[in-house]
Amino acid sequence: MKDIYILGIESSCDETSCSIVKNGCEEISTVISSQIDIHKSFGGVVPEIASREHVKNITFVLEECLEKAKMTMDDIDAIALTYGPGLIGSLLIGLEAAKILSYLYQKPLIPVHHIAGHIYANSLVKPLEFPLLALVVSGGHTELIKMTDHFQFEKLGGTLDDAIGECYDKVARVMDLSYPGGPKVDELAHRGKPTYHLPIPLSDDSYNFSFSGLKSAVINLNHKEEQNGNTINKEDLAASFQKVAVESVVRKTRKAIEKEGIKHLIVAGGVAANKGLREEISKMCEEEQVDLSIPPMKFCTDNGAMIASAGYFAYKLGRVADYDLNSLSSVALQ
Ligand code: KG4
Ligand code: ZN
Repeated sequence: MKDIYILGIESSCDETSCSIVKNGCEEISTVISSQIDIHKSFGGVVPEIASREHVKNITFVLEECLEKAKMTMDDIDAIALTYGPGLIGSLLIGLEAAKILSYLYQKPLIPVHHIAGHIYANSLVKPLEFPLLALVVSGGHTELIKMTDHFQFEKLGGTLDDAIGECYDKVARVMDLSYPGGPKVDELAHRGKPTYHLPIPLSDDSYNFSFSGLKSAVINLNHKEEQNGNTINKEDLAASFQKVAVESVVRKTRKAIEKEGIKHLIVAGGVAANKGLREEISKMCEEEQVDLSIPPMKFCTDNGAMIASAGYFAYKLGRVADYDLNSLSSVALQ
């Protein structure tokens, strides 16, 4: 069978990335240009600046990606791109780049939902086995998705307010840690002990999550200690927050596994890089005798390889778009 090479373009937030992936599972080359250092001084991503940086970077990222792979556009079978959700200006840069390449080189255009990309990052580790449960934990999403086949998504539950990554970043801000705070809170947590009492969010029978109460509890605790003239032990506060955040996610995931009779769990999204979550979810899967897949660190946060991988399976299903394709800042997983 002929090998299929997909070029994946990701530009939904503050990373401009291109990858070439073979047959949906083998990364040939990836280039990621991150804007973190630019947005750091603002304490978060500034959409207008992000769009301008994507414009500056996209051509260089694409050229370097092809060079690294020792390939030309003629070797590419199809072009996959993130069409949403994300920052609209940022998404449009990736979309236009993909359309131009598609038109110039006469290659099919494959639209990929950003969260489908995070889920399919796991195909770069091992083949997806259905039915599976995907725990999606990122800056914008906290969801439990059941998949019965490729691109057959059933949402079992999701966050009612903040996403877990957003909560990590806000807690980090209160602790004077620079953007993106998630990885820094994770680091601190590993040096501290969970000595502060924080409420477990939404401990009910649903598959939903809630993080805004936990975030407020951390802010209030910090504030109260400051008012009382006490110094907060940042390591211990991070450990206390992480323990509760991870526990709430693992608890609901375990419930879904038991009730839905799941045998395969995959974890997807930026927060899948969290060491505390990786440890606890591995432990839970061992206890439940569930096969677990978590992408390597480099494929947890935004990258073109996950889009190329999802693009391969979408291409096989004939999910090809025409030039009317538009970017969508908000769109349900499909
Ligand atoms: O998936 P992603 O790159 O972008 C979105 O699609 O949102 O995820 C970014 C999020 C940020 O909120 C970041 O703080 C969080 O993932 N993150 C982490 C860790 N690494 C990245 N959160 C907790 N612990 C980490 N190690
Ligand atoms: Zn993402």
